Amino acid sequence: MSVIRAVACGCGRYLPERVVENAELALTIDTSDAWIRTRTGIERRRFAAEGEKTSDLSIVAARRALDDAGMTGSDIDAIVLATATPDQTFPSTATRVQAAIGMSGGFAFDIQAVCAGFVFALAQADALIRTGQARRAMVIGAETFSRILDWNDRGTCVLFGDGAGALILEAREGEGTSADRGLLATDLRSDGRYNELLYVDGGPSTTGSAGVVRMAGQEVFKHAVLKLAETGATALARAGLGTADVDWLVPHQANLRIMSMTAAKLGVPMERVVVTVQDHGNTSAASIPLALSVARERGQIREGDVVLMEAIGGGLAWGAAVLRW
Ligand code: COA
Repeated sequence: MSVIRAVACGCGRYLPERVVENAELALTIDTSDAWIRTRTGIERRRFAAEGEKTSDLSIVAARRALDDAGMTGSDIDAIVLATATPDQTFPSTATRVQAAIGMSGGFAFDIQAVCAGFVFALAQADALIRTGQARRAMVIGAETFSRILDWNDRGTCVLFGDGAGALILEAREGEGTSADRGLLATDLRSDGRYNELLYVDGGPSTTGSAGVVRMAGQEVFKHAVLKLAETGATALARAGLGTADVDWLVPHQANLRIMSMTAAKLGVPMERVVVTVQDHGNTSAASIPLALSVARERGQIREGDVVLMEAIGGGLAWGAAVLRW
C-alpha cells in the first residue's frame, strides 16, 4: 500500500562560540569538574553571548540544514520549532526563523514540551506531511537555557547549555512497511501530576518574568529511566521493529547515567548510542537535533539506518520517534 512518509533530507546545528568547561563553573560555584563528570557525564557546554537569542541560534542551524538538503527557504512550507526559551512570549521564534530564511509562504509555529520538545515537534511535522498540509517541514529544537538558570542552585545550573539543531523532512512515497525511509512511528506521553518535579518558577501569567529552573533531580532521574525505556519500546513496536533493528539510539542528552541505564533497559549496546552530552550539556529541546547532526558528521548515521530517538522533560512530558534515515 502506498503511503506518504516524512523523510529526512538534511540537518544542521549551531552552538554558540563560548565554551564553558566544568572547571570554569567551579571558579564561582561550589562544585567540581569531578562531581559534574561522574554524576552527569558533562565536561563542557556552550553559552549564548549577551544579546544572542534563541532565534539567532535557530537561524544558523536552519541555514545549515537547508545547505545540507540542497534547498532554500522558499522550498520549506512549515517550520515547527520546539523551545522553552523563546525570544519573547510572542511572536513565535519560528516566525523569526521563517522571515530570516526567506520563506515567504507556508506557516511557522512554536511548540512547548521542554526537553521532549523535539520529539513532539517531529510528531507534529510528520502529521502535517502525512495529511498533505506540508510537503517540506523544518523541525527545529533551540534553547538558551543559560538565561533561566539560578546560579545559586548548583544542583541545576551545572547541567544545562545552549544550542540549536534543525532537521528537514520531505514528503515521499513509501510502501507502508518498516523498510520505508522516513518517520515510521512516534509515541507521545505526558503526566501533569508531576508538574512540580521540574518547572520554571515564573511566566507571563504568574510573575510576569521568565523565572528560573527548579528541579527535584533524583525524582526526575527515576522517572526518566523507566519512562524512556517504555516509550522507546512502544514506538519501536508501533513501527514493527525491535531493539535488534535499532542502528542508533539518539537519546535526549541530559545525563550519561540516564542514557546508559535506558539503553541497558532497552537492550541497545552503548556502541550504538549517540552521545554528545560531554560537549553540549543538557540543551533541552535542542539536544536530539544537535546529536543527529553530530552523528551524521561523524559518519555514524547513514541512509537506511534505523534511528530511535527518546526524550523526557518538564510536565512531565516524554516520547519517542523511530526514523529510518
Ligand atoms: N556540585 C557538587 N555537589 C553537588 C552539586 C554540584 N553541582 N549538586 C548537588 N551536589 C551535592 C548535593 O548538595 C548533595 O550533597 P549532600 O549529600 O551533602 O546533601 C550531593 O551532591 C548529592 O546530591 P543529589 O541531588 O542526591 O545528587 P544526585 O546523585 O541525585 O545527582 C543530579 C544530582 C541532578 C545530577 C541527578 O539527580 C540527575 O542527573 N537527575 C536528573 C536530572 C536531569 O537530567 N534532568 C533533566 C531531565 S530533562
